[in-house]
Amino acid sequence: MSDMLNSPAGGCGSGNCACKSQAQQRATRSFFDDTDYGTPARHADVDVTLEIDGQAVTVPAGTSVMRAAVEAGVNVPKLCATDSLEPFGSCRLCLVEIEGKRGYPASCTTPVEAGMKVRTQTDRLQSLRRNVMELYISDHPLDCLTCPANGDCELQDMAGVTGLREVRYGFDGANHLKDRKDESNPYFTYDPSKCIVCNRCVRACEETQGTFALTIAGRGFESRVAASENKPFMESECVSCGACVAACPTATLQEKTVIMLGQAEHSVVTTCAYCGVGCSFKAEMKGNEVVRMVPHKNGAANEGHACVKGRFAWGYATHKDRITKPMIRARITDPWREVSWEEALDYAASEFRRIQAKHGRDSIGGITSSRCTNEETYLVQKLVRAAFGNNNVDTCARVCHSPTGYGLKTTLGESAGTQTFASVDKADVIMVIGANPTDGHPVFGSRLKRRVREGAKLIVVDPRRIDIVDTPHVKASHHLQLRPGTNVAVVNALAHVIVTEGLLNEAFVAERCETRAFQQWRDFVALPENAPEATEEVTGVPAQGVREAARIYATGGNAAIYYGLGVTEHAQGSTTVMGIANLAMATGNIGREGVGVNPLRGQNNVQGSCDMGSFPHELPGYRHISDTVTRTLFEEAWNVTLQPEPGLRIPNMFEAALDGSFMGLYCQGEDIVQSDPNTHHVSAALSSMECIVVQDIFLNETAKYAHVLLPGSSFLEKDGTFTNAERRISRVRKVMPPVPGYADWEVTVLLARALGYEMDYTHPSQIMDEIARLTPTFHGVSYKKLDELGSIQWPCNESAPDGTPTMHIDAFVRGKGKFVITKFIASPEKVTRKFPLLLTTGRILSQYNVGAQTRRTENSRWHDEDRLEIHPHDAEERGIKMDDWVGIESRAGQTVLRAKVTERMQPGVVYTTFHFPESGANVITTESSDWATNCPEYKVTAVQVMPVEQPSQWQKDYSRFNTEQLDLLKRRELANVTSGK
Ligand code: SF4
Ligand code: SF4
Ligand code: SF4
Ligand code: FES
Repeated sequence: MSDMLNSPAGGCGSGNCACKSQAQQRATRSFFDDTDYGTPARHADVDVTLEIDGQAVTVPAGTSVMRAAVEAGVNVPKLCATDSLEPFGSCRLCLVEIEGKRGYPASCTTPVEAGMKVRTQTDRLQSLRRNVMELYISDHPLDCLTCPANGDCELQDMAGVTGLREVRYGFDGANHLKDRKDESNPYFTYDPSKCIVCNRCVRACEETQGTFALTIAGRGFESRVAASENKPFMESECVSCGACVAACPTATLQEKTVIMLGQAEHSVVTTCAYCGVGCSFKAEMKGNEVVRMVPHKNGAANEGHACVKGRFAWGYATHKDRITKPMIRARITDPWREVSWEEALDYAASEFRRIQAKHGRDSIGGITSSRCTNEETYLVQKLVRAAFGNNNVDTCARVCHSPTGYGLKTTLGESAGTQTFASVDKADVIMVIGANPTDGHPVFGSRLKRRVREGAKLIVVDPRRIDIVDTPHVKASHHLQLRPGTNVAVVNALAHVIVTEGLLNEAFVAERCETRAFQQWRDFVALPENAPEATEEVTGVPAQGVREAARIYATGGNAAIYYGLGVTEHAQGSTTVMGIANLAMATGNIGREGVGVNPLRGQNNVQGSCDMGSFPHELPGYRHISDTVTRTLFEEAWNVTLQPEPGLRIPNMFEAALDGSFMGLYCQGEDIVQSDPNTHHVSAALSSMECIVVQDIFLNETAKYAHVLLPGSSFLEKDGTFTNAERRISRVRKVMPPVPGYADWEVTVLLARALGYEMDYTHPSQIMDEIARLTPTFHGVSYKKLDELGSIQWPCNESAPDGTPTMHIDAFVRGKGKFVITKFIASPEKVTRKFPLLLTTGRILSQYNVGAQTRRTENSRWHDEDRLEIHPHDAEERGIKMDDWVGIESRAGQTVLRAKVTERMQPGVVYTTFHFPESGANVITTESSDWATNCPEYKVTAVQVMPVEQPSQWQKDYSRFNTEQLDLLKRRELANVTSGK
């Protein structure tokens, strides 16, 4: 298979180039080079020089002979070794001769020694290896020509390498050739007849993924791979991450798409479009068809790992529901009319101009998407500011991580996390607050679990008993199971212990932080009202647990905090973020590897959409629109006059729509109707607008209120960049042409032109060049450099030409770190007799956000409806049993879901996901929001739950509206058929 992007970045390109030392070669290895070195890299202060087949090679101490050989350009045959896993030494194919040593040691398990002389190719070794291969092949179906792995099978390769020509043993004896295939998993098969029991899959599930779903059952000839206790994969603990499939050297574990489509012809490296981990993938292609997505081993965020979404759930890109033609309609009760791109864009532009003429310049706005690329979000905010002439632009980060931006900017000076994901490998204490990494950020979750297995202490602060609290070989030392809405009280109690028990890092604070603000904060948290004993009643967390957790965090070595939407989506979201930053500064846990403040960003490009100036008050790079110098810079570059006042946030847009002053919206790649709180309010606001332009790949819930529908392009259909939760900018590369004809960035360019504002880009790299020119933290970023380095963590500029993995090393971005007083104020959402339970919402591993993509894949086999999780005590009190239909009512609305009775919940708290529109989870959530940023308080809604027998009124209304809208879409299709289009 050729690899379009697999050419080395420089040098002669051969693995054994003699013009550079091995260390130099390692340093300059191309991002696209995915050589398998057999065993993992070792890092040591000491280098060791040895000789392999007469060639000197220098490698770090602890490196295996096998890896050293590959560094020297010598490939030793292997089957059970691969460089993502610790060596196992079972196949005996990698035997070598070492001068002065007896026998034939396995090169994968033998560490290098100085002066060693190794021979990898002798007649004796060849004969031994051939014998091993002969035994393997004697119990292997000889169907290479029709095997799906033909051409990509290490067993086949090794038969060739060892020169095996005939098998002396017949196939009549005992064998596994008739063992039954397990096809239960929707994405891969397990065919035991092809298994060589190399254990790579078992080790991948343990070491890489950390699920421990696989084992080798039986002994000797009976040895077989077994999922859980010999269950079909689908019924086992397997979470379908695909690590075992990637590790398998044969077709035993094989992607079904490869079985169906055959081997790929070329590959392109790109970035996952699901979560904020930002995994790098090789899209393996046959023409314009994806055969499989293979996690890229050089991806710095994922290092060859993936989860079920990015690895397997990409079929939505070619789903029949894709909108492929632009459509318009005057009213949302009219059938859609398919039109040309030109007519759709002219209609949208003329409507926007008409509305502005009638209602004023500020009567329209735009919403950028965290699903789209940096370049696309940059263009949408540019279009709003330059072509609409106002600052009415906002993004979905409003409803997830806007408090992170505010809180970290205020305390540390930069609106972003401080570390790399790899930094967790150096953490001794890991505190996870309001995040569920094994579901929300699975690849990072696996890394975190690995670190805990290595001995790091884990503290979990979460209302639910999430998986990471107690999972195979990983146990949290403390689970502070707080009541929803009391994060600030818990963070203050942790701080109280640190201050009053003398656990502060005084030297760090004195050198790095503002003294007066620190003293005020110290005096505040020391108040008796912040003591764990005082907060216990409101938080529900026993004081002793808080005290112990605080001591561990402050004194346990490198301590890192990871937090998620369980922190931000609260009335005091920004306060908690600042409280977390206070903890890190007070203990000196910031500014080096292994520590830091790490927001686990939700969507793939939520960091990027914020960086790109999507907020109404900020230009790209988080510079306030009122700042004359910055504004002038953009005015000159964009050739317009910009408004100095911030525009409307999303909730303000809805309010203004309802009062008749905001009448037009351009919404790219966001589904505000499903994702924003208080659905009644959102749909009423949208219904009152005169022109809504939605750009999306499907007719999503928002598009059902639209007047212009511009077909969007998936991440496979465009070039650009995403920025993940580590500030890591990675390339998105086009692997197939855009289904509707244009990529999203091109559509925004055309819309700008239709509005009379010229944008003249011909490739997204030019947009990035403009971003880099105008944004100090991006000055050094270019597509060329991204191709060279693979990815870049901003800031990347003159003082950090290769980017900034760890922030705030010598000083905070704002100079001195600023402690902020974080007074706990109880959420306005309180339990009452009418609404005695608290509802909190979140995500699940197999589905993603509003589910528009994952619901259109086999991932729904794991989760095909949103359920209400409820504690057995609360369920029993209400006569609710597992799977019963239950009505959930808040002051905002009512909906009905099926119950899941589980002890993961604490009494008094219920939980649901929001992946299915008909669930109406956001019919329940209210407009309560963060005081600083308006981020909705999704995590706290007072509700009552009762058994019911029929859907809620909202669900009946939704069902009718949905049917009508699908019918209007269908009538467009029927019109096409009859008109012969
Ligand atoms: S399934 Fe594959 S990886 Fe696992 S033991 Fe068998 S051949 Fe090895
Ligand atoms: S797919 Fe992942 S979780 Fe499932 S068995 Fe393989 S490695 Fe384990
Ligand atoms: S969804 Fe997240 S963790 Fe999963 S493959 Fe994509 S980026 Fe990686
Ligand atoms: S590769 Fe070394 S023993 Fe299998």
